[in-house]
Amino acid sequence: MSEVNPSKRMPNHRRGLATALLTIAFVFVCLSSQAEAQGLTVGFYENSCPTVEAIIWESMRNSYNQDPTVAPGVLRLSFHDCFVRGCDASVLLDGEEAEKTAAINVNLHGFEAIDAAKAAVEAACPNTVSCADILQFAARDSVTLTGGEGWDVSGGRRDSLVSSYVDPPLGLPLQTDTVSELLANFAEKNLNAAHMVALSGGHSIGIAHCQYVTDRLYDYPSSDTGSDPTLPSDMQATLKTECPNAAATPELNVDEVTPDTFDSQYFNNIVKGRGLLASDQRLMDDKATSDAVLANNGPDFGGNFGRAMVVMARYNVLTGNAGQIRTNCRQVN
Ligand code: HEM
Repeated sequence: MSEVNPSKRMPNHRRGLATALLTIAFVFVCLSSQAEAQGLTVGFYENSCPTVEAIIWESMRNSYNQDPTVAPGVLRLSFHDCFVRGCDASVLLDGEEAEKTAAINVNLHGFEAIDAAKAAVEAACPNTVSCADILQFAARDSVTLTGGEGWDVSGGRRDSLVSSYVDPPLGLPLQTDTVSELLANFAEKNLNAAHMVALSGGHSIGIAHCQYVTDRLYDYPSSDTGSDPTLPSDMQATLKTECPNAAATPELNVDEVTPDTFDSQYFNNIVKGRGLLASDQRLMDDKATSDAVLANNGPDFGGNFGRAMVVMARYNVLTGNAGQIRTNCRQVN
């Protein structure tokens, strides 16, 4: 009996096409099962709490109208949540040894806005929507409230049972980090250089305290004067007056031109050498990141930021039966 060699059954060009299609199908199946494995979907609360996003938006709008600093506060909270143990609302838990007591988290704020959103959501849909999801919806709303573009936020995260002050310094980047250190940190969270640069645009709104810029003024490594030689002299003079030491209390706008509007001006400042934080300005010094700074210095920033937030908000999430849905974001049930 003569055996037919399977590779002879199909002409070469068709075999090539079939292999390509199979590979695409395989990659597609892998990617979608990865997404399913994570259990995150847009419209997760479609049946269980269909008005959740409208409720959170309304609550955030009220909080923002009372205190506009809520927007940068909540956006930063979402970042500090995701980068420490994953996006699990561990940053929201109270406790003497909780994440929020770590030195790097000492200026975090916006917790009351999340409490208000959670209370409104609980009133409509008890025990249904996690604090981890509320934080991600509220971060998106903080961006739109300050003039930025929105994006689709998936739901399905669950809340952690633990929070420790030990974890934030291990997960969060520092303004003194080099570009390679920043890239390595973000890569651990599945974020590439383009994501990292777009996300740094979170600094389009909000403030920084003197303690995060005095390294550039008085203690800059490998500088004779102690000051960062790349800092423009007028900025250096102003900052030295405002921040005679790290303990000085002024609040410095991170974006000196449009501090309250979520826009690409932050990148324009960096291109001009006028970024406030050393870690922001350094993005221009490395080819791995400078191209992305230029790419975000314009209308593409809004979309890039939203897409990067989607990737960040998937990091190390608890789904399915893991963790819990807290009824109060500050306490484990
Ligand atoms: C790239 C690494 C990053 C470093 C080293 C960094 C560092 C800092 C520092 C030192 C401050 C000032 C904090 C203070 O004075 O209390 C700050 C503020 C802020 N950061 Fe970042 N950050 C980074 C990335 C991000 C990302 C990815 C986001 C959001 C997507 C973000 C959002 C914010 C916001 C909104 C503020 C202003 C907070 C306020 O007004 O209270 N940061 N950041």
